[in-house]
Amino acid sequence: MKGINADKNILEDVLLEYIYGSPARLKPPGLNIMASNVARLSGLFTKGRESLPKSYLKDKNLRSAYILYFLPSNLYKIHLPLKELSLHPEKPLLKERLKILDIGSGPGTVVLGVMDFFTRQASPPFLEFTAVDAVEGNLRDAGELFKLYKDKSMASASLKTGRLNIENPETIPEGHFDIIIVSNLLNELFYDDAIAKRVDILIKLMSQTMSEDGSCIIIEPALWETSREMLEVRDGLLKQGLNIYPHTQKAPNHYKNPSPSRVGVGVYSPCLICEPCPALINPKDWCHEDMPWTPPPLIKEIDKLTGLRKDSLKFSYLVLRKDNLSLSDIYGKESFRVVSEPLISKGKIEFYICGKGERKLITRLDKDKTTLNKAFNELNRGNVVCFEHLSDEGKRFRLGKDTGVFLKKPDS
Ligand SMILES: C[S@@+](CC[C@H](N)C(=O)[O-])C[C@H]1O[C@@H](n2cnc3c(N)ncnc32)[C@H](O)[C@@H]1O
Repeated sequence: MKGINADKNILEDVLLEYIYGSPARLKPPGLNIMASNVARLSGLFTKGRESLPKSYLKDKNLRSAYILYFLPSNLYKIHLPLKELSLHPEKPLLKERLKILDIGSGPGTVVLGVMDFFTRQASPPFLEFTAVDAVEGNLRDAGELFKLYKDKSMASASLKTGRLNIENPETIPEGHFDIIIVSNLLNELFYDDAIAKRVDILIKLMSQTMSEDGSCIIIEPALWETSREMLEVRDGLLKQGLNIYPHTQKAPNHYKNPSPSRVGVGVYSPCLICEPCPALINPKDWCHEDMPWTPPPLIKEIDKLTGLRKDSLKFSYLVLRKDNLSLSDIYGKESFRVVSEPLISKGKIEFYICGKGERKLITRLDKDKTTLNKAFNELNRGNVVCFEHLSDEGKRFRLGKDTGVFLKKPDS
């Protein structure tokens, strides 16, 4: 997918107008106050994560900081999973109406992101949103921002909001949502026995609230801890859903004794395999995207004042479905996902790639560069790629002069 540029700046205007009553550029001292609130919130999301109070967004200053600084980048992260879903030949998003549930909506970040994604299309569906959150103030913000953005972008959409604590399984609604989105929430749920409880909540959501051909999209921060926890949840979901759906029936050995009453869960993307996550084998590994992004001017100014950096979109994500659709239906089971930056050292280029049960280093010596394998130079994190005549040396794959490299870009 190409880099995303914040749209000229409908969004920033809407956000500034909402927070300050005017789309005029923010100047000192307001800018400095905003920057210090952004720094405080960023600290809570990183170093202070362990002690993040449940209702941190009840603080109006932190809510404003979230809206002006975190919302504009988080909003575009939903584009990638939506893009990958729309690539599938079964066209799971091609409907006249899409019912979308946004859980832990905050100020409606992904509601705006989904509207932005579909309004770029020739015949967008009607978007019927339900946004739920534990904090009433967030839902008020979500409602107001939805109205402002909808008027400016001319999206066909409706929004219902509701207060809900998703940690209480009794509150999970019944429904037939086409898309359930859990964006930057999972890591805030439960502190004791968190993985098992998150798995249970997601199983309940997918079995009770998602349509049979629906998708559950999870987005998490690209931090080592939150990303690995998401992968553990992924594996927990696969394990508990194994014996119902055909594509998961070839159970790996350590997935014995699945509970037969559980709903089946398959990974649509980013994984091209529906097996235990190989990144969990080495405690140093985790898995995340890093997409180019040009931030709007206000974020650049806040970055200058705080020393933070939001110059690309970094996040971990997971698209889960109850049927057996998978991105590998398009790209083939032999494909790999590039899961690292290029590792360039004297005389060689290397990457980590993930597919077919392993996450492994792949190396090409400069002396082996040929026209057949020159696409190797162009690989980036997140690309899907396949090879011909690749040699497997156990610890690593090695490209030879005769290795063919076929880049399958998500937007090709
Ligand atoms: C980091 S914000 C994410 C907001 C938005 N989804 C995004 O991606 O920008 C997490 C949100 O989850 C909400 N939240 C936290 N725990 C919750 C719970 N148990 N039930 C419902 N919402 C919760 C918080 O109030 C907050 O709005």
